[in-house]
Amino acid sequence: MTARALVTGPTAGIGAAFAWRLAAEGVDLVLVARDEDRLHRLSDELRRDHGVDIEILPADLTDPDALDRVSTRIADESRPIGLLVNNAGASIAGWFGTTDIALEDRQLDLLVRAPMHLMDAALKAMSRRGYGAIVNVASVAAFTPRGAYSAHKSWLVNLSLWAHLQYADAGVVVQALCPGFTRTEFHQRMDADISDIPEWMWLKADDVAAASLRDLRRRRALSIPSTRYRVLSTLARHAPIGLVAAVAKRGR
Ligand SMILES: NC(=O)c1ccc[n+]([C@@H]2O[C@H](COP(=O)([O-])OP(=O)(O)OC[C@H]3O[C@@H](n4cnc5c(N)ncnc54)[C@H](OP(=O)(O)O)[C@@H]3O)[C@@H](O)[C@H]2O)c1
Repeated sequence: MTARALVTGPTAGIGAAFAWRLAAEGVDLVLVARDEDRLHRLSDELRRDHGVDIEILPADLTDPDALDRVSTRIADESRPIGLLVNNAGASIAGWFGTTDIALEDRQLDLLVRAPMHLMDAALKAMSRRGYGAIVNVASVAAFTPRGAYSAHKSWLVNLSLWAHLQYADAGVVVQALCPGFTRTEFHQRMDADISDIPEWMWLKADDVAAASLRDLRRRRALSIPSTRYRVLSTLARHAPIGLVAAVAKRGR
Protein backbone atom coordinates (compact mmCIF):
# COMPACT_ATOMS: atom_id res chain seq x y z
CA MET A 1 0.00 0.00 0.00
CA THR A 2 1.03 3.60 -0.55
CA ALA A 3 2.98 5.73 1.95
CA ARG A 4 0.40 8.51 2.46
CA ALA A 5 -3.37 8.66 1.93
CA LEU A 6 -5.81 11.55 2.08
CA VAL A 7 -9.24 10.53 3.38
CA THR A 8 -12.24 12.85 3.33
CA GLY A 9 -14.89 12.27 5.98
CA PRO A 10 -12.71 10.10 8.28
CA THR A 11 -14.41 11.13 11.55
CA ALA A 12 -17.31 8.67 11.21
CA GLY A 13 -18.60 5.64 9.36
CA ILE A 14 -16.90 4.34 6.23
CA GLY A 15 -14.21 7.05 6.22
CA ALA A 16 -13.23 6.19 9.80
CA ALA A 17 -12.97 2.52 8.80
CA PHE A 18 -10.61 3.48 5.95
CA ALA A 19 -8.51 5.63 8.28
CA TRP A 20 -8.13 2.83 10.86
CA ARG A 21 -7.37 0.13 8.26
CA LEU A 22 -4.82 2.29 6.44
CA ALA A 23 -3.12 3.37 9.68
CA ALA A 24 -2.91 -0.30 10.75
CA GLU A 25 -1.01 -0.95 7.49
CA GLY A 26 1.45 1.85 8.39
CA VAL A 27 0.06 4.38 5.92
CA ASP A 28 0.48 8.06 6.93
CA LEU A 29 -2.74 10.05 6.69
CA VAL A 30 -4.17 13.44 5.80
CA LEU A 31 -7.62 13.71 7.38
CA VAL A 32 -10.26 16.11 6.00
CA ALA A 33 -13.62 16.91 7.65
CA ARG A 34 -15.43 19.84 9.27
CA ASP A 35 -15.37 18.90 12.97
CA GLU A 36 -11.91 19.93 14.18
CA ASP A 37 -12.27 18.42 17.68
CA ARG A 38 -13.16 15.06 16.22
CA LEU A 39 -10.26 15.28 13.77
CA HIS A 40 -7.84 15.95 16.67
CA ARG A 41 -9.25 13.10 18.76
CA LEU A 42 -9.04 10.67 15.84
CA SER A 43 -5.49 11.68 14.93
CA ASP A 44 -4.36 11.28 18.56
CA GLU A 45 -5.84 7.77 18.68
CA LEU A 46 -4.39 6.73 15.31
CA ARG A 47 -0.92 8.03 16.26
CA ARG A 48 -1.10 6.31 19.66
CA ASP A 49 -2.23 2.93 18.29
CA HIS A 50 -0.30 2.79 15.01
CA GLY A 51 2.53 5.36 15.23
CA VAL A 52 1.74 6.85 11.81
CA ASP A 53 2.17 10.48 10.79
CA ILE A 54 -1.15 12.37 10.66
CA GLU A 55 -1.96 15.78 9.20
CA ILE A 56 -5.39 17.22 9.80
CA LEU A 57 -7.00 19.56 7.34
CA PRO A 58 -10.30 20.94 8.67
CA ALA A 59 -12.50 21.84 5.70
CA ASP A 60 -16.12 22.10 4.70
CA LEU A 61 -15.91 20.62 1.21
CA THR A 62 -18.96 22.60 0.08
CA ASP A 63 -16.96 25.81 0.62
CA PRO A 64 -14.98 26.60 -2.60
CA ASP A 65 -12.01 28.13 -0.70
CA ALA A 66 -11.76 25.15 1.65
CA LEU A 67 -12.02 22.78 -1.31
CA ASP A 68 -9.17 24.67 -3.02
CA ARG A 69 -7.00 24.22 0.09
CA VAL A 70 -7.53 20.46 -0.02
CA SER A 71 -6.79 20.35 -3.79
CA THR A 72 -3.60 22.35 -3.16
CA ARG A 73 -2.55 19.83 -0.52
CA ILE A 74 -3.11 16.97 -2.97
CA ALA A 75 -0.97 18.78 -5.57
CA ASP A 76 1.89 19.27 -3.06
CA GLU A 77 4.52 16.82 -4.28
CA SER A 78 6.88 17.48 -1.36
CA ARG A 79 4.65 15.06 0.64
CA PRO A 80 2.95 13.06 -2.15
CA ILE A 81 -0.52 11.60 -1.69
CA GLY A 82 -0.44 8.02 -2.99
CA LEU A 83 -4.11 7.29 -2.28
CA LEU A 84 -7.10 9.63 -2.31
CA VAL A 85 -10.29 8.35 -0.67
CA ASN A 86 -13.12 10.63 -1.79
CA ASN A 87 -15.56 9.54 0.90
CA ALA A 88 -17.18 12.54 2.65
CA GLY A 89 -20.90 12.56 2.00
CA ALA A 90 -24.33 13.35 3.34
CA SER A 91 -27.84 13.36 2.01
CA ILE A 92 -31.05 15.26 2.65
CA ALA A 93 -34.46 13.89 3.50
CA GLY A 94 -37.23 14.26 0.94
CA TRP A 95 -37.55 13.72 -2.79
CA PHE A 96 -36.06 16.17 -5.28
CA GLY A 97 -38.80 18.61 -6.27
CA THR A 98 -40.09 18.87 -2.70
CA THR A 99 -36.87 19.92 -0.97
CA ASP A 100 -35.18 23.30 -0.48
CA ILE A 101 -33.09 23.94 -3.61
CA ALA A 102 -30.34 25.54 -1.49
CA LEU A 103 -29.93 22.19 0.31
CA GLU A 104 -29.86 20.42 -3.06
CA ASP A 105 -27.05 22.77 -4.12
CA ARG A 106 -25.05 21.85 -1.01
CA GLN A 107 -25.61 18.15 -1.62
CA LEU A 108 -24.49 18.53 -5.25
CA ASP A 109 -21.38 20.43 -4.11
CA LEU A 110 -20.47 17.74 -1.58
CA LEU A 111 -21.25 14.65 -3.67
CA VAL A 112 -20.17 15.87 -7.13
CA ARG A 113 -18.20 19.11 -7.14
CA ALA A 114 -15.90 18.17 -4.23
CA PRO A 115 -14.87 14.71 -5.51
CA MET A 116 -14.49 16.18 -9.02
CA HIS A 117 -12.03 18.83 -7.80
CA LEU A 118 -10.06 16.45 -5.59
CA MET A 119 -9.94 13.81 -8.31
CA ASP A 120 -8.73 16.41 -10.80
CA ALA A 121 -5.87 17.43 -8.49
CA ALA A 122 -5.01 13.78 -7.76
CA LEU A 123 -5.07 12.61 -11.39
CA LYS A 124 -2.74 15.45 -12.40
CA ALA A 125 -0.25 14.75 -9.59
CA MET A 126 -0.44 10.95 -9.85
CA SER A 127 -0.21 10.66 -13.64
CA ARG A 128 2.77 13.06 -13.67
CA ARG A 129 4.64 10.93 -11.12
CA GLY A 130 3.45 7.61 -12.61
CA TYR A 131 1.64 6.03 -9.65
CA GLY A 132 -1.31 6.51 -7.34
CA ALA A 133 -4.83 5.35 -6.57
CA ILE A 134 -8.22 6.97 -6.08
CA VAL A 135 -11.25 5.45 -4.34
CA ASN A 136 -14.48 7.31 -5.05
CA VAL A 137 -17.12 6.27 -2.53
CA ALA A 138 -20.36 6.10 -4.50
CA SER A 139 -23.25 3.76 -3.64
CA VAL A 140 -25.37 0.94 -5.04
CA ALA A 141 -27.95 3.75 -5.28
CA ALA A 142 -26.02 4.69 -8.45
CA PHE A 143 -27.67 1.74 -10.22
CA THR A 144 -31.29 2.74 -9.50
CA PRO A 145 -33.17 5.90 -10.51
CA ARG A 146 -34.06 7.27 -7.05
CA GLY A 147 -33.80 11.04 -6.96
CA ALA A 148 -30.87 13.43 -6.81
CA TYR A 149 -28.65 11.39 -4.44
CA SER A 150 -28.75 8.39 -6.82
CA ALA A 151 -28.07 10.67 -9.78
CA HIS A 152 -25.00 12.18 -8.08
CA LYS A 153 -23.62 8.74 -7.22
CA SER A 154 -24.29 7.59 -10.78
CA TRP A 155 -22.23 10.51 -12.06
CA LEU A 156 -19.36 9.52 -9.77
CA VAL A 157 -19.46 5.86 -10.85
CA ASN A 158 -19.51 6.83 -14.52
CA LEU A 159 -16.55 9.21 -14.24
CA SER A 160 -14.59 6.69 -12.13
CA LEU A 161 -15.08 3.83 -14.60
CA TRP A 162 -13.88 6.04 -17.44
CA ALA A 163 -10.90 7.36 -15.44
CA HIS A 164 -9.94 3.78 -14.51
CA LEU A 165 -9.42 3.00 -18.22
CA GLN A 166 -8.06 6.40 -19.20
CA TYR A 167 -5.31 6.59 -16.54
CA ALA A 168 -4.33 2.89 -16.28
CA ASP A 169 -1.32 3.39 -18.57
CA ALA A 170 -0.22 6.35 -16.43
CA GLY A 171 -0.01 4.01 -13.41
CA VAL A 172 -3.14 5.33 -11.67
CA VAL A 173 -5.90 3.01 -10.39
CA VAL A 174 -9.35 4.54 -9.99
CA GLN A 175 -12.10 2.65 -8.19
CA ALA A 176 -15.81 3.34 -7.71
CA LEU A 177 -16.81 1.86 -4.35
CA CYS A 178 -20.53 1.06 -4.20
CA PRO A 179 -21.70 0.00 -0.75
CA GLY A 180 -25.28 -0.85 0.12
CA PHE A 181 -26.86 0.19 3.43
CA THR A 182 -24.04 0.55 5.95
CA ARG A 183 -24.30 1.21 9.68
CA THR A 184 -22.79 4.69 10.12
CA GLU A 185 -24.04 8.14 11.16
CA PHE A 186 -25.36 8.80 7.64
CA HIS A 187 -29.07 8.01 8.12
CA GLN A 188 -29.28 9.55 11.58
CA ARG A 189 -27.69 12.79 10.29
CA MET A 190 -30.37 13.05 7.57
CA ASP A 191 -33.05 12.07 10.08
CA ALA A 192 -34.21 9.15 7.92
CA ASP A 193 -36.56 6.45 9.17
CA ILE A 194 -34.60 3.24 8.62
CA SER A 195 -36.84 0.97 10.71
CA ASP A 196 -38.17 -0.87 7.62
CA ILE A 197 -34.72 -1.86 6.30
CA PRO A 198 -34.23 -5.57 7.05
CA GLU A 199 -31.21 -6.62 9.09
CA TRP A 200 -29.70 -8.68 6.22
CA MET A 201 -29.32 -5.50 4.14
CA TRP A 202 -26.93 -3.81 6.58
CA LEU A 203 -23.18 -3.85 6.07
CA LYS A 204 -20.43 -3.00 8.56
CA ALA A 205 -18.27 0.00 7.68
CA ASP A 206 -15.09 -1.97 8.35
CA ASP A 207 -16.16 -4.73 5.92
CA VAL A 208 -16.84 -2.06 3.28
CA ALA A 209 -13.36 -0.52 3.67
CA ALA A 210 -11.71 -3.97 3.72
CA ALA A 211 -13.47 -5.02 0.49
CA SER A 212 -12.50 -1.77 -1.23
CA LEU A 213 -8.82 -2.06 -0.30
CA ARG A 214 -8.78 -5.73 -1.34
CA ASP A 215 -10.31 -4.82 -4.72
CA LEU A 216 -7.88 -1.91 -5.08
CA ARG A 217 -4.94 -4.32 -4.77
CA ARG A 218 -6.55 -6.34 -7.58
CA ARG A 219 -6.85 -3.08 -9.57
CA ARG A 220 -10.65 -3.49 -9.88
CA ALA A 221 -12.62 -0.55 -11.30
CA LEU A 222 -15.79 -1.35 -9.38
CA SER A 223 -15.99 -2.57 -5.79
CA ILE A 224 -19.38 -3.75 -4.50
CA PRO A 225 -18.92 -5.14 -0.99
CA SER A 226 -20.79 -8.40 -0.17
CA THR A 227 -22.24 -11.09 -2.40
CA ARG A 228 -25.81 -9.99 -1.69
CA TYR A 229 -25.22 -6.48 -3.01
CA ARG A 230 -23.22 -7.80 -5.98
CA VAL A 231 -26.26 -9.92 -6.95
CA LEU A 232 -28.73 -7.06 -6.40
CA SER A 233 -26.53 -4.63 -8.36
CA THR A 234 -26.16 -7.05 -11.27
CA LEU A 235 -29.96 -7.36 -11.42
CA ALA A 236 -30.41 -3.58 -11.18
CA ARG A 237 -27.85 -2.94 -13.93
CA HIS A 238 -29.40 -5.41 -16.37
CA ALA A 239 -33.14 -5.36 -15.67
CA PRO A 240 -35.45 -2.95 -17.57
CA ILE A 241 -35.12 0.55 -16.09
CA GLY A 242 -38.89 0.86 -15.46
CA LEU A 243 -38.87 -2.33 -13.38
CA VAL A 244 -35.80 -1.20 -11.40
CA ALA A 245 -37.42 2.19 -10.72
CA ALA A 246 -40.68 0.53 -9.59
CA VAL A 247 -38.89 -1.83 -7.20
CA ALA A 248 -36.67 1.00 -5.89
CA LYS A 249 -39.75 3.18 -5.30
CA ARG A 250 -41.15 0.58 -2.89
CA GLY A 251 -37.96 0.82 -0.80
CA ARG A 252 -37.25 3.50 1.78
N1 LIG B 1 -24.13 4.65 5.16
C1 LIG B 1 -24.64 4.15 4.05
O1 LIG B 1 -25.64 3.40 4.05
C2 LIG B 1 -23.97 4.46 2.72
C3 LIG B 1 -24.27 3.62 1.63
C4 LIG B 1 -23.67 3.86 0.40
C5 LIG B 1 -22.79 4.92 0.27
N2 LIG B 1 -22.52 5.73 1.33
C6 LIG B 1 -21.57 6.83 1.12
O2 LIG B 1 -20.46 6.62 1.97
C7 LIG B 1 -19.81 7.88 2.24
C8 LIG B 1 -19.56 8.01 3.74
O3 LIG B 1 -20.80 8.02 4.39
P1 LIG B 1 -21.02 7.41 5.85
O4 LIG B 1 -22.20 6.52 5.75
O5 LIG B 1 -19.76 6.91 6.40
O6 LIG B 1 -21.52 8.75 6.59
P2 LIG B 1 -21.22 9.37 8.05
O7 LIG B 1 -21.04 8.30 9.05
O8 LIG B 1 -22.31 10.36 8.26
O9 LIG B 1 -19.82 10.14 7.85
C9 LIG B 1 -19.74 11.23 6.96
C10 LIG B 1 -18.34 11.84 7.02
O10 LIG B 1 -18.29 12.89 6.04
C11 LIG B 1 -17.89 14.11 6.68
N3 LIG B 1 -18.58 15.23 6.03
C12 LIG B 1 -19.92 15.43 5.91
N4 LIG B 1 -20.18 16.60 5.32
C13 LIG B 1 -18.97 17.17 5.05
C14 LIG B 1 -18.57 18.40 4.46
N5 LIG B 1 -19.47 19.31 4.04
N6 LIG B 1 -17.26 18.67 4.35
C15 LIG B 1 -16.33 17.78 4.78
N7 LIG B 1 -16.65 16.61 5.36
C16 LIG B 1 -17.95 16.30 5.49
C17 LIG B 1 -18.30 13.93 8.14
O11 LIG B 1 -17.48 14.71 9.02
P3 LIG B 1 -17.88 16.21 9.55
O12 LIG B 1 -19.34 16.15 9.92
O13 LIG B 1 -16.96 16.46 10.68
O14 LIG B 1 -17.61 17.12 8.39
C18 LIG B 1 -18.02 12.46 8.37
O15 LIG B 1 -16.65 12.25 8.66
C19 LIG B 1 -20.74 8.95 1.67
O16 LIG B 1 -20.23 9.40 0.44
C20 LIG B 1 -22.07 8.23 1.47
O17 LIG B 1 -22.83 8.81 0.43
C21 LIG B 1 -23.08 5.52 2.56
